[in-house]
Amino acid sequence: MQDSSIKVYKGLEGVYVAESDICLVDGQNGKLYYRGYSIEDLAERSSYEEVCYLLLHGRLPNKTELESFKDEMREDRDLPKGVLDIIKHLAGRAHPMDIMRTAVSALPAYDKEAYDNNEGANIRKSMRIISKAASIVAAIYRFEQGEDYIEPDYELSHAANFLYMLKGEKPTDEQSRLMDRELILHAEHSSNASTFSCLVTASTLADIYAAVTAGIATLKGPLHGGADEAALKLIIAIGRKENVSSYIQNMLKNKQKIMGFGHRVYKTYDPRAKIIKEDLLNIEKKANTRIKRLIEVVLEVERETINNLSGKGIYPNMDLFSGIVYQYLGVPSNLFTPIFAASRTVGWCAHIIEYMQSSKLIRPLELYKGKRDLKYIDIDSRA
Ligand code: ACO
Repeated sequence: MQDSSIKVYKGLEGVYVAESDICLVDGQNGKLYYRGYSIEDLAERSSYEEVCYLLLHGRLPNKTELESFKDEMREDRDLPKGVLDIIKHLAGRAHPMDIMRTAVSALPAYDKEAYDNNEGANIRKSMRIISKAASIVAAIYRFEQGEDYIEPDYELSHAANFLYMLKGEKPTDEQSRLMDRELILHAEHSSNASTFSCLVTASTLADIYAAVTAGIATLKGPLHGGADEAALKLIIAIGRKENVSSYIQNMLKNKQKIMGFGHRVYKTYDPRAKIIKEDLLNIEKKANTRIKRLIEVVLEVERETINNLSGKGIYPNMDLFSGIVYQYLGVPSNLFTPIFAASRTVGWCAHIIEYMQSSKLIRPLELYKGKRDLKYIDIDSRA
């Protein structure tokens, strides 16, 4: 007999799986903090490299610490030839997220510390994965376009170098800052599905490369990281401001999810979405007609959806707006989720390192509902 008092928490909703000092998502008040610092302050005043230091070390660096951290991250940008060969072979044959997952899972073959799970080694490996993940995304794009891989520019910041490796042109200060803010906003978000995947893998004492690979696999889905690509598709499909109301009403009537809205934790406006929306409004004046139209449509989608769904606590999440900023930067939509993965690598690594300090194998239970004690019938006697 099953115990009728057992409660199954579908999707682990409302279940606490760990204690953590890394990130607070205050879903009721729409607030987000990395290591105690508000996302608004970090987006306004910090840099992606500084946020990486903060997440990995638990505190802000002083000037000397930040400079040497940046130097080390710069040196980690290069990709082994074997990894470039894998990317070249796969480019154009699979979604960039699949190629990225494969490339990251090949990195331990080139890392002498790959299987050393002590904290120092894991911080060094985290920096390598963070730096190389951006180069991997750029390499996927270059090879997909039939172009050559561009070697990293060691003078540029992480964000500027990424845009340079993608396009082969040094970005403007405005472009670099927009990219940097996107990376900061995507860097960390507590125990979401992909971070939890990393922890499940790390809890078996597998290495950090294996755990990050699991995170990338999980981020791919359209209910998680894949929503940014799906949200832009929706905006493009709607096409014009005048079409928004009927399009959204039709989706709601057919019980379809509107991509870029809703969140398991935020029951109010996602604070990251507010920041990206500010960037969009700043871009609007300088943007070309296509981007201007996308902005016009997305703002109308925001209005229409909030009018219909705010009663259920459904508001825009950051994926609604980030795709349009990327389009303004000339980034194609199939790279949105890989860029998300590259920036989130630091959050995954911080959680993996923290979890390993007092690791316990993650092994939940299932409430069995199937049959028991069936009579085994030999294959020749089965109907
Ligand atoms: N559009 C329309 N209705 C929605 C949406 C949406 N985007 N999100 C939730 N709802 C509705 C559901 O239909 C459901 O309604 P009901 O109670 O009448 O059946 C109710 O709100 C609760 O929705 P759930 O899916 O049960 O909520 P859950 O917490 O499981 O889902 C999720 C969260 C997966 C993010 C969901 O809101 C969704 O699918 N959003 C669209 C995809 C998306 O934008 N994902 C990005 C998330 S943020 C990130 O990963 C960076």
